[in-house]
Amino acid sequence: MPDLSTIVSDIAAEMAAAPDRGIPADYIPPLAAVDPGRFGIAVIERDGTCHLAGDADESFSIQSVSKVFALTLALGAVGDQLWRRVGREPSGSAFNSIVQLETEHGVPRNPFINAGAIVVADVLLGRNQPREVLGELLRFVRAAAGEDGIFIDEAVARAEQDTGHRNMALANYMRAFGNLHHPPEATLGVYFHQCALAMSCRQLALTGRYLMAGGINPTTGHSIVSAQRARRINALMLTCGHYDGSGEFAYRVGLPGKSGVGGGILAIAPGIASIAVWSPGLNERGNSQLGTLALERLVQRTGWSIFEPRG
Ligand code: DON
Repeated sequence: MPDLSTIVSDIAAEMAAAPDRGIPADYIPPLAAVDPGRFGIAVIERDGTCHLAGDADESFSIQSVSKVFALTLALGAVGDQLWRRVGREPSGSAFNSIVQLETEHGVPRNPFINAGAIVVADVLLGRNQPREVLGELLRFVRAAAGEDGIFIDEAVARAEQDTGHRNMALANYMRAFGNLHHPPEATLGVYFHQCALAMSCRQLALTGRYLMAGGINPTTGHSIVSAQRARRINALMLTCGHYDGSGEFAYRVGLPGKSGVGGGILAIAPGIASIAVWSPGLNERGNSQLGTLALERLVQRTGWSIFEPRG
């Protein structure tokens, strides 16, 4: 295999020339304004070696990728009790779908669809104020990345609030079933701001290292979650991280991954690398078109799929 830096820069060059780039999300105005010509990739190996190409240092809105970090915090707060309020099965539905909630009595299928992430935000609220929860989330991602330059983009959060009628419907619907314990405005305040987290591919790959390294921050050696929890979060990313495109992502890429409508994807090659890609154009399932293609090529060239025979 050619060296990893060559693979990563080749992929970035191929993506720069790709004609079919997908379409940026248009339902949140600041996301629609991002240049679809952008592409970034960051691959961080277990020993800390970092391979960057394209717009790897440009901040973007990580959107639903944040659901991985919110889930990590909620499991830290309430442990397995979380699973009384949210399931662990793929939904086979769009990220913002409401249909299953009626037949399943207000219990969302998994923590990565919007309804599930709203319950996770509600759990994080506990007895705290939204401001404290967001402070905790920011501290968590900054500490995991070892970087202070990660921030919440207030303009994106406001736009989410202004356009978030479906999320409001999901929250109210779950409140009617007793599965939302705080006023929908407070819970959604957390959810909208968490989606507005802004970071670069490099920062996102740094943040995700604990999922690659059995729950440990490889720089500090500190445990962020247990090895079992890291494994389980990876399992949820593989089965649910791309909504109704999760099967297709597993088929093409074969890594746990979480997408966001900002065009970012965090992918984990357990024991090997934490990877972030970003390109704002989305495919028909709302997942980054070129981000997925770039990961598919990376895995083909490195043999990193979790389904590849080892040893
Ligand atoms: O709830 C929303 O509409 C967004 N703030 C987050 C959605 C998202 O990123 C879904 N992902 N692909």
